[in-house]
Amino acid sequence: MPLEKLLSPISIGNLELPNRVVMAPLTRNRASQPGDVPSEMNARYYAQRAGAGLIVSEATHISRQGQGYWAAPGIYSDAQEAGWKNVAGAVHAKQGRIALQLWHVGRVSHRLAQADSAQPVAPSAIRAENTQVFVKNEDGTLGFVDVDEPRALETSELSGIVLQYVDATQRAKRAGFDMVEVHAANGYLLQQFMSTHTNRRTDEYGGSVENRVRLTVEVLEAVAGVIGADRVGIRISPNFVGFDLKDAEAEASAIYLVKELKRIGIAYLHIAEPDWAGGEPLSENFRQTLRDAYDGVIIACGEYTAEEAEARIECGEADAVAFGRAFLANPDLVERFRRGAPLNEPDEATFYGGGEEGYTDYPALDDNE
Ligand SMILES: Cc1cc2nc3c(=O)[nH]c(=O)nc-3n(C[C@H](O)[C@H](O)[C@H](O)COP(=O)(O)O)c2cc1C
Repeated sequence: MPLEKLLSPISIGNLELPNRVVMAPLTRNRASQPGDVPSEMNARYYAQRAGAGLIVSEATHISRQGQGYWAAPGIYSDAQEAGWKNVAGAVHAKQGRIALQLWHVGRVSHRLAQADSAQPVAPSAIRAENTQVFVKNEDGTLGFVDVDEPRALETSELSGIVLQYVDATQRAKRAGFDMVEVHAANGYLLQQFMSTHTNRRTDEYGGSVENRVRLTVEVLEAVAGVIGADRVGIRISPNFVGFDLKDAEAEASAIYLVKELKRIGIAYLHIAEPDWAGGEPLSENFRQTLRDAYDGVIIACGEYTAEEAEARIECGEADAVAFGRAFLANPDLVERFRRGAPLNEPDEATFYGGGEEGYTDYPALDDNE
């Protein structure tokens, strides 16, 4: 059978996935307003994609401070928790499984995206050059603005950051999510702490690899304490270069982190490869080192075709593969892979913001029968 591995079952933590086709996290900026609350439309979108082995939700703010973009959902209010409970319920009703991606943007933000025009926070007070976020202006119009210079978090504030993850995980658990995924990728807060360029701290959270990775490890331990390590995954993106992120020691940090994942018993490692945002491709040597260091589930992601995904699993460097834009445009992606059917093309103009168009109206194969 073609795609034999990709379409075969796998266990992640205590979850049994019927296939290894994961839906990658995709920000769509369609949470209902006011309050960034997941809506009935959002529930419909995720339920349409319940054929995935596992859905990873769009990145979701763990606090107001963690927010950088207009209409991305949160998981810090009762209304948001109720909205997500409806989403998770809709996915479960279709026999799917869903993880919530926990997000703090750090410096990739602007006062307009914060409560009371607060200054965004980061490991160090270094503004991200050539980086914009989409916000609601004071006159009510929507648009892109250059990010603000952040303030450096005090050492005494970091336990509060960990608590934001804990509170969000408690809400995710109550909302019925099967897992949570700690977003330590794509140049946001946790990766800002890991990177040599954005972290210039002189306390125990800066300097050595161990120090720069410390906050991420503390977050993972705390989140695992709430929901169980077997229900926690993490996403990293070594070599990511978006949002002015540079890291002279990206590989060393990842290798150190992976040993900690093993110690804590984290269920999966999700690797966002540096494809869609630019950046050096991961070397074969690095992939193999990660594989050797980690015996949990590795999910690869980044411009994979079904055949490339099959080959990556076949060679053992990944156990599952996540698809972003292909899942966005093909609600029944797994069924299309199974039948060898052609794929709908994603429409970039409707990726971020808007309504049903380019969101819930991509046709499934059976719609045409
Ligand atoms: C519209 C869009 C939104 C995205 N939002 C997120 C996100 O919320 N969290 C995240 O970790 N990655 C996000 N990504 C990255 C994707 O998860 C994925 O890594 C990327 O699209 C490459 O995979 P693909 O080639 O299969 O689309 C986003 C990508 C796109 C295109």
